[in-house]
Amino acid sequence: MGKLKEKTVPQLEALLRELQTEYKGWQEKGLRLDMSRGKPNTDQLDLCQGMLDTVSSKLGAVSESGVDCRNYGLLEGIPEVRKLLADMLQVDQEEIIVGGNSSLNMMYDCMTRALLYGVYGSDKPWCKEPEIKFLCPVPGYDRHFAITQHFGFKMINVDMTAEGPDMDQVEEYIKDPSVKGIWCVPKYSNPTGVTYSNRVVRRFARLAPAAPDFRIFWDNAYTIHDLYDEGDTLLDLFALLKDQGKEDMAFIFGSTSKISFAGAGLAAVAASKRNIRFMTRQLTNQTISYDKISQLMHVRFFGNFQNMKAHMKKHAALLRPKFELVEDILEEELGSLDIARWTKPRGGYFISFQTTPGCAKRTVALCKEAGVTLTAAGAAFPYGIDPEDSNIRLAPSYPSLEELEQAARLFCLAVKMATVEYLLTTSI
Ligand SMILES: Cc1ncc(COP(=O)(O)O)c(C=O)c1O
Repeated sequence: MGKLKEKTVPQLEALLRELQTEYKGWQEKGLRLDMSRGKPNTDQLDLCQGMLDTVSSKLGAVSESGVDCRNYGLLEGIPEVRKLLADMLQVDQEEIIVGGNSSLNMMYDCMTRALLYGVYGSDKPWCKEPEIKFLCPVPGYDRHFAITQHFGFKMINVDMTAEGPDMDQVEEYIKDPSVKGIWCVPKYSNPTGVTYSNRVVRRFARLAPAAPDFRIFWDNAYTIHDLYDEGDTLLDLFALLKDQGKEDMAFIFGSTSKISFAGAGLAAVAASKRNIRFMTRQLTNQTISYDKISQLMHVRFFGNFQNMKAHMKKHAALLRPKFELVEDILEEELGSLDIARWTKPRGGYFISFQTTPGCAKRTVALCKEAGVTLTAAGAAFPYGIDPEDSNIRLAPSYPSLEELEQAARLFCLAVKMATVEYLLTTSI
């Protein structure tokens, strides 16, 4: 097809007619496919089916340390599960609370507590501030931005680079005391797949925000979610902060949503012992304890962190072919056209796709009209506004390989159509 931007108007018009005919054919197929969310496929959930057999009337529900998991108690989690998830998040057992099934829920709660009571070391609730600003590396995770939007924070876009957030921008913004925090997905970022470089993590550790109650929301959701044997490595921010006595500045989150069951996994928040004590005191008024049966099931099934890591290889074996299939089709269909670029992540759940500016919404709409649902264009930006209308998040995990092949081909056709339409409008 050659580079689209070098084509004349009549050539583009002829090409559009061809693409429209092809598109009609796709519409007639009546596809119903969903590539919108990073949901594990049933095959992945089946990998943990045996976990459902680890607790029964015969096996009982008393943990190795003697906790009767059927009863109240141990708000921070049973010792065995605290160890398991502390190993996953590289913290000590006393530096973690294992909560319900959703880390997003724990992030929301942390934000709520900061608003109502302030954070450890500060007696001023955030809600007493005239304005709260939050830094949002973009493109980023839409549900993070939904939380801060919901609470009325002013969200500030920070550009994501190939090494993580643009730290020059971060260092500049935190001079403003109304900037209270930053969202981070430091490993296999949602959606760019970027793992923050050592340089970036070191700059995070050196941050000296004007707001004394500034917090880094370090959502390490994809910490062991490698697609390849050799995974990315992420520098330990918490250890670096500790070296400087600044460990109160980070809230670290993680969960087993994409390790065990997305709807019935375990979530955790890790933080300094002071932060954990402060949170626990407040949590006591919210619940007596979380679901310890689920905690016990995870401990019995995985045994230890090494086994949990080994288990992730099974996920990788299912996910890798899906990512590679999409990447191959993108390359084959779009590689020579010079109209788009995309990431080739080594872990996580997403491919981040950049269309020619001005073409993302139209691409998503064209896919929708032919039966393939994608994440809404702009979703990876605060307020759903992508200033360039260029980013689309692709989530290859849920569809089967056959479905994915169809969805990816249709997607490429939609990208081509949207771009040709755009070039025609802008060349008139
Ligand atoms: C970065 C990130 N954090 C958190 C979550 C949700 O985690 P949980 O299921 O533990 O609430 C997701 C899910 O896609 C995610 O991508």
